[in-house]
Amino acid sequence: MPDGVSLDDLLPRLRQLLGDRGILTEPADTAPYCEDWRRLYRGHTPAVLRPATTAELAAAVGLCAAHGAAIVPQGGNTSMVGGAAVAEDGSQLVLSLARMNRVRTIDTVDMTMEIEAGVVLKAAQEAADEAGCLLPLSISSEGSAQIGGVLATNAGGNNTVRYGNARDLVLGLEVVLPDGQVWNGLRRLHKDNTGYCLRQLFVGSEGTLGIITAAVLKLWPRPRELAVALCAVPSADAALELFGRCQRHDAAAIQAFEYMSGAGMELVLRHIPGAALPLSGPAAHYVLVEFATPRDGADLKAELEDVLGRAMADGLIGDAVIAESGAQRAAIWKLREEHSEAQKRAGASVKNDISVPVSKVPELIRRARAACEALVPGIVCVPFGHLGDGNIHFNLVQPPAADAAAFLARDHELMDAVNAVVRDLDGSFSAEHGIGRLKPYMMPEWRGGAELELMRRIKQALDPLGLLNPGKLLP
Ligand code: MLT
Ligand code: ZN
Repeated sequence: MPDGVSLDDLLPRLRQLLGDRGILTEPADTAPYCEDWRRLYRGHTPAVLRPATTAELAAAVGLCAAHGAAIVPQGGNTSMVGGAAVAEDGSQLVLSLARMNRVRTIDTVDMTMEIEAGVVLKAAQEAADEAGCLLPLSISSEGSAQIGGVLATNAGGNNTVRYGNARDLVLGLEVVLPDGQVWNGLRRLHKDNTGYCLRQLFVGSEGTLGIITAAVLKLWPRPRELAVALCAVPSADAALELFGRCQRHDAAAIQAFEYMSGAGMELVLRHIPGAALPLSGPAAHYVLVEFATPRDGADLKAELEDVLGRAMADGLIGDAVIAESGAQRAAIWKLREEHSEAQKRAGASVKNDISVPVSKVPELIRRARAACEALVPGIVCVPFGHLGDGNIHFNLVQPPAADAAAFLARDHELMDAVNAVVRDLDGSFSAEHGIGRLKPYMMPEWRGGAELELMRRIKQALDPLGLLNPGKLLP
């Protein structure tokens, strides 16, 4: 704890406020909250707070502020950049949103849902689906990630190409400020020009400015038809050309356009039980394309067949399969969504979550691969991700026989080499995972000058004591 913070006084008061279910202090109970999904950080905390309501959470934050105690807000703890990692020195309390998990309302006329921060993304999608609607946010970790974290990091995901990032889906927010005040901005208006757009300040702020406790999200009509295909393509250039053709055919129908490399697919097939390649043989590059429409009788499958058939005739596709059932669709998506898990099982990995203009994706993949292979012979480059919006996860897996720790020790060197290419192509070093604890050191180089200075001033204005998620986002 920072100097002057008396836990002996604070913890009993928090227990009194939150009840026994609302606070964990035994190391065996707090341990799961102290390690991130990638196992990059293992911290220590004197307590995990688990409020059940906004009022409880606000009172707990107010109490912590009065005692000068730092807080790390935590949702599903699935961050790829240590965004919810707690410090090693026991100086920070974890604040878990998991018990605030109610879908408050779904309005099928306004096409909105009001939802608490601790709802798991998958459960939110299912609730929307039951109401005949679509919540289009979809990410690989949706079975664990919670709405609060997804919004706090402005997650992108598989459907950004059609529906935008998380921030594009947010109409309203409820936020607990660092001093314990509640800002209720749970409006569901599409037009509301009343000064600064505060909700967008908190979306993507990674829990450093306030704690998102609830949100109003936009919904869409549930698609009546979906058609998904897996294609083997000869190059990343062919993948890009295929994307252009799909856009020219019917841009509005494209719900996802994902790229995968042969190396990544190979890891999935090797490490993920039940994964199978539904093509005649392995390829160097793959595309997953999904069309969706709320229209009846659109026959999207025939449309997809038509686009892919012509691309095949022109040599842009070597082999392709279109899912014939929901089970086949899920099996194709599994090959894509298990990429991170497969890499985790293959050994140590360094992740680059980067974006470039869509037209530059093939060049990015080529040049970043050359840079990494020059640095670490035998390295396994696993580029994959959201080609349709220019966001590629240029992930790197250790050479099979290498020492994991020695490989990880070179993470900055590898990330910097990839980032040099990204910079040259007018891209970003952080496209959807955020900055977290892993990347603040990159901020001065990429966002220095007026931009970083403005961010610091905003942080100072909202959290002058620096109690919310210390050590994240800002260097
Ligand atoms: C994904 O799209 O699956 C992720 O954002 C994952 C990753 O970088 O490993
Ligand atoms: Zn992604």
